[in-house]
Amino acid sequence: MKVLVTGGAGYIGSHVVRQLGEAGHEVVVFDNLSTGYRWAVSCGELIVGDLADEAAITEVFNSHRFDAVLHFAANIVVPESVENPLKYYSNNTRNTLNLLKAVEKHAVPYMVFSSTAAVYGMPEQTVLTEDLPLAPINPYGASKMMSERMIMDLAAASSLHYVILRYFNVAGANPDGLLGQATPEATHLIKVACECVTGKRDGMKVFGTDYDTRDGTCIRDYIHVEDLAKAHVMALDYMAGGGESRVLNCGYGRGFTVREVIDMVKQQAGKDFPVSETGRRAGDPAALMADNTLIKDVLGWEPSFDDLKTIVSTALAWEKIWMEKQAQ
Ligand code: UFG
Repeated sequence: MKVLVTGGAGYIGSHVVRQLGEAGHEVVVFDNLSTGYRWAVSCGELIVGDLADEAAITEVFNSHRFDAVLHFAANIVVPESVENPLKYYSNNTRNTLNLLKAVEKHAVPYMVFSSTAAVYGMPEQTVLTEDLPLAPINPYGASKMMSERMIMDLAAASSLHYVILRYFNVAGANPDGLLGQATPEATHLIKVACECVTGKRDGMKVFGTDYDTRDGTCIRDYIHVEDLAKAHVMALDYMAGGGESRVLNCGYGRGFTVREVIDMVKQQAGKDFPVSETGRRAGDPAALMADNTLIKDVLGWEPSFDDLKTIVSTALAWEKIWMEKQAQ
């Protein structure tokens, strides 16, 4: 298939681009390089452009005939979305609308969309199924929920088929050290802990130790980026094989506490670093895990890296490579 990948120079997008190339797809990446990198696009063509620029989108669709669009380009920092909501409704929701106009005009048959567990908000259950009511508690989650809805509505009114993937906590890196998370000023737990190992940070904080969990800290479902990437390639095959539109959780269905994650990073690094305990971070549910029954049934997806040690060791290896890359 000929595939347009928006945000293909970013962390998750770049892992998917590499797998798409390996699977024999023809890839065109559209990325504004705001948080992505040219070096991360390992195959296909890179077009530097912004989804806010409708003329640029028109040009891309006029010069290529796509079988599928994979839409990763988005801002993803929850606290930033609370402080600057319109940035999220512009860059996530409105830019998705801009993209969908081209998808409709050119009758692109398939779309895979990067959504998030943040659409569920603060649910009462800890293991989440896709049919739960959507109740995002921050503009990031709301911006993604609205994008989901636009895709569904367009699909209902046209021949578009979609797979919406709701990511849980994505972490880890390409096991060959080719790619990884290079986001500046990252806020995600595993990345922050890895930056403590390399000395980029002096230490880190645990946000909240009084949750009703096994050690008082929050539990999250950490999924390796290569397993997540594989779900996107499988989603394309599924739709090409006549599969109907679906919304699928992406997680392993189990979780680790913040303390367990930090301990694993220290153990894998063979190094200690200062960790202080502080109050809860606003909007953090105690425990979030994916019910992944559907993605396994529908796509036949099975994880290959469902192991915290592997997630952490690949993230750590990448962090060291990335430090050296930046120093060059
Ligand atoms: N945490 C710390 N210290 C840190 C960073 C994180 O204690 O320095 C804790 C958080 O409080 C939370 C856990 O580690 O309990 C995981 O936090 P992350 O920031 O890594 O990830 P989140 O669970 O907050 O966010 C993830 C995705 C979001 C998505 C959300 C949906 O990264 O994009 O899940 O619930 F919106």
